[in-house]
Amino acid sequence: MTKLDLFFDPTRCFIGGKWVAPAGGEYLPIENPSTGETIGEIARGQAADVEAAVAAAQAGLAGAWGKTPAFERGRILTRMGQAVLARVDELARIEAMDVGKPLKQARADAVALARYLEFYGGACDKIMGETIPYLDGYTVYTLREPHGVTGHIIPWNYPMQIIGRSVTAALAMGNAAVLKPAEEACLTAIAFAKIAEEAGLPAGALNVVPGLGEEAGAALTAHPGVNHISFTGSLAVGELIQRAAAKNVIPVTLELGGKSPQLVFEDADLDRALPFLVNAGIQNAGQTCSASSRILVHRSIHDQVLERMAERYRALRVGPAIDDLDVGPLVSGRQQEIVGEFLSDLGGGEIAARGEVVSGAPTGGHYLAPALVSGVKPDNRLAQDEIFGPVQVVIPFDDEAEAVATANGTEFGLVAGVWSRDGGRTMRVAKAIRTGQVFLNNYGAGGGVELPFGGVGKSGHGREKGFEALYGFSVLKTVAAWHG
Ligand code: NAI
Ligand code: MG
Repeated sequence: MTKLDLFFDPTRCFIGGKWVAPAGGEYLPIENPSTGETIGEIARGQAADVEAAVAAAQAGLAGAWGKTPAFERGRILTRMGQAVLARVDELARIEAMDVGKPLKQARADAVALARYLEFYGGACDKIMGETIPYLDGYTVYTLREPHGVTGHIIPWNYPMQIIGRSVTAALAMGNAAVLKPAEEACLTAIAFAKIAEEAGLPAGALNVVPGLGEEAGAALTAHPGVNHISFTGSLAVGELIQRAAAKNVIPVTLELGGKSPQLVFEDADLDRALPFLVNAGIQNAGQTCSASSRILVHRSIHDQVLERMAERYRALRVGPAIDDLDVGPLVSGRQQEIVGEFLSDLGGGEIAARGEVVSGAPTGGHYLAPALVSGVKPDNRLAQDEIFGPVQVVIPFDDEAEAVATANGTEFGLVAGVWSRDGGRTMRVAKAIRTGQVFLNNYGAGGGVELPFGGVGKSGHGREKGFEALYGFSVLKTVAAWHG
């Protein structure tokens, strides 16, 4: 059993500034996906723990946290960012063990979390209302106020980044957060609570209840004391969350993944495009909401692009996270099955190339060699459904109109990339594509915390990241004063 050396106790919930055992006294195993071994356990939080966490959040809002001025919130978040930076390598190692992310990718997540804390720490005292010219004898102004208690249900694929874009933005606006991390990946969420405690975040501002989706997650979603829910995860659970939120008539932010395309036109700079085309599909073993799983290529260069991507695929090495190769294992045996099932029926397509699982990779690990698939029709499920694994399909198109129609031809709409040296075309296509983000001659733009992010269609609604997130995590109050 590989030893986990932690600076916090993973078997505790963090509620009202205290580290408490789960009320039910039950625990869940932590699996290392690189080996299949159990490396520890986490609390199995349930409804009673969620109840306590929501009450603690409400108490925090009524107490010290609710009275903390904006600039002071900023200082606390900034201190937390410094603490994250001081622990970047440690957090990366923990995440690598917990979710199977190659170390470099896990490290990038920790650095991103620090960036969110810096960005939102700096933004706290810069959110302002306005004065509105009105009738004689009146002065009208607006106030941006927190929702109150915000619930955050996050997935296992990018725990630190999603805590960054969701929880830190909510705290910046003065909300009190209850965080339910994914059962597959709770460690860095608990680490975040420890860092918050050490940085002096007042009790109740942040509460973390690890546990199962159907237990702690469902309890948080249904709780009438929660004023806003932010969810990232599957479409199926997103629907449940929105239904539950409707019952309590509260706003939700849903980020439900995608089937994001990159459109490669005949005049694209292929030397620049190639690494983006492949990395966007295999990063984090393809378990990325904004993964680019469809590569749409002008027919005149289709074979060339396919072969150049294939070359890169054949060089991909898959192995234990700690060895920091190109690709790690999938997060779980279940995820490996889901992806394997997609590959078991290519619907007329064929595998153009695969990466290689290194010899000596532990047999209990959830490894899957990345697969580049050609020859599937745009309406095939490989080109329609979110696979959430290192699988990309390459599809030819004949002209711009067909490229746009194919790009828009799924139920999702999260991200798109456009590759062309024709500036007018890239801007025209950017307008025609229905997604929340479009990247022209790049993909992802380095992940910038400053860039508003979210979907249209079944990719969800609401925006996280950037300044925009602060509007989502607040409500606007209009004050109209008559003074004669
Ligand atoms: P999931 O949607 O079940 O899990 C995400 C979070 O929701 C976890 O914290 C989970 O505990 C929670 N949850 C699950 N059921 C819940 C319920 N009834 N009420 C409240 N919370 C609940 O996703 P899962 O099962 O881990 O992955 C399945 C598929 O979902 C993946 O193959 C992928 O296609 C998609 N997915 C998309 C993500 C994204 O970034 N958009 C992230 C994770 C999964
Ligand atoms: Mg795990």
